[in-house]
Amino acid sequence: MADFDYDVLVIGAGPGGYVAAIRAAQLGLKTACAESRETLGGTCLNVGCIPSKALLHASELYEEAAGGALAKLGVRIDKMSLDLDTMQGQRQDAVKGLTGGIEFLFKKNKVDWLKGLATFTGPNAVEVAGKAVTAKNIVIATGSSVAPLPGVAVDNKKGLIVDSTGALELDKVPDRLVVIGGGVIGLELGSVWRRLGAKVTVVEYLDQILPGMDGEVRKEASKIFKKQGFDYKLGTKVTGAKVKGKHVELTVEPAAGGDVETIEADVVLVSIGRRPNTEGLGLDKIGLELNARGQIETDHDFATKVPGVWAIGDVIPGPMLAHKAEDEGIAVAENIAGLTGIVNHDVIPSVVYTSPEIAGVGLTEEAAKERGAVKVGKFPMLANSRAKTNHEPDGFVKVIADAETDRVLGVWIIASVAGTMIAQAAQAMEFGASSEDIAYTCHAHPTHSEAIKEAAMAVTGKPIHM
Ligand code: FAD
Ligand code: NAI
Repeated sequence: MADFDYDVLVIGAGPGGYVAAIRAAQLGLKTACAESRETLGGTCLNVGCIPSKALLHASELYEEAAGGALAKLGVRIDKMSLDLDTMQGQRQDAVKGLTGGIEFLFKKNKVDWLKGLATFTGPNAVEVAGKAVTAKNIVIATGSSVAPLPGVAVDNKKGLIVDSTGALELDKVPDRLVVIGGGVIGLELGSVWRRLGAKVTVVEYLDQILPGMDGEVRKEASKIFKKQGFDYKLGTKVTGAKVKGKHVELTVEPAAGGDVETIEADVVLVSIGRRPNTEGLGLDKIGLELNARGQIETDHDFATKVPGVWAIGDVIPGPMLAHKAEDEGIAVAENIAGLTGIVNHDVIPSVVYTSPEIAGVGLTEEAAKERGAVKVGKFPMLANSRAKTNHEPDGFVKVIADAETDRVLGVWIIASVAGTMIAQAAQAMEFGASSEDIAYTCHAHPTHSEAIKEAAMAVTGKPIHM
């Protein structure tokens, strides 16, 4: 048997890659992880989940103070102002702390960080920063990057037409922010700058925001955001952007064709999706082909068609989410070690961290109905004592169950803490729960989560508080 430098080499230290590397090392495998960034943690820790949540949290508090919500609770702040430098500083601190934490975990678990871009040179072999490295198993966890929009050139340095990374780093609140794409990034980062004072317009190609989510949730979310001050141009495509001095002129037209219109913006955020990172990886050297969407296909164990080469995270099909990548990281390491690593792709929660938050797991009502008869139970947050007391009346919980077996097929939530609430729904679904199981589980009072119990009660009978 050939000798290799490592049992496992992971390419990319995002949530998929760094978790795979740590688990492989924990299982006794000699492990290295190649990462070309200056810091570990990938998109999520450096320019994604973490910095966006740092700004979402701070801007929410700012809006509560500036918009009078705190005053209504008897918390008066007579003199307040925005200190954007400090707000941005705490974002950078959050990133620094967490990326440094991964470096510590690598050392603790004896994972070697190979600094540089990894390129395949042949089977079981890569080059990292000019150095040849061999490994019995290679895990591709290279993640994804912003999808470009033809005619709209992103320049984060200039800060006029930016992608999500540029939108996190603005040093001034724009008067007019136009967001291209009414998906997760557009609504989260749009919320940040709207709360801090920008007039935000979302230009969305489809006729509704948040594609992929439950229809009723999309409609309700759209209404809530409109009330907050978001403007939409739905069913509209952007055909070009011109920088004119200190602002940008966008040309847009109806998606179905029609009259061209121009919109002026101080900053334009391009957030029309992300695409897998495979360029420069040298996949041709190992004969690994991509699918039509530019992704690497794997089997259930995350093995690619090339023996000894595995892939996980944003670079393979499925939702582009950090927790999905992490779970795949654990599973692939366990499979490499000869254990049984499984990810249940039917139960991956997704959360939009707006205010209120929007969360879902499992099937939408539309998708569930395509598979057979369903029963749906709904409960409004307005009737939940904790939400009402906290002045958080917006939203609802919706439980979708199989009409015959009562098995829960999907749960959708709009609520201030929907992202935290959805975990119990995912756990219930993972255990194959029926709506009755949830309805008869004792929930602590007063909590937002009681709304899940009441929605489950509404599937077959009646909730108590409605
Ligand atoms: P990545 O995190 O993209 O990591 C891949 C790493 O590989 C990168 O660091 C890259 O530098 C490195 N790399 C690539 N090629 C090479 C190479 N050849 N050699 C060496 N290194 C290489 N998801 C959530 O679940 N929750 C959120 O709240 C959330 N918020 C987000 C907010 C924003 C603004 C963005 C952009 C994304 C957000 N996401 C969120 C998505 C999440 O960041 C990704 O799903 C997740 O990071 C994917 O993990 P990954 O390990 O597959 O890849
Ligand atoms: P997205 O896929 O969520 O939304 C893109 C939106 O742009 C869609 O509504 C799409 O219809 C629209 N669009 C596409 N082309 C367009 C065009 N030419 N003109 C106008 N609209 C157009 O992608 P987004 O927001 O860029 O986020 C990328 C990924 O990052 C997401 O898929 C998500 O998985 C991940 N992410 C997750 C977060 C979370 O979990 N909270 C937060 C941020 C990102």
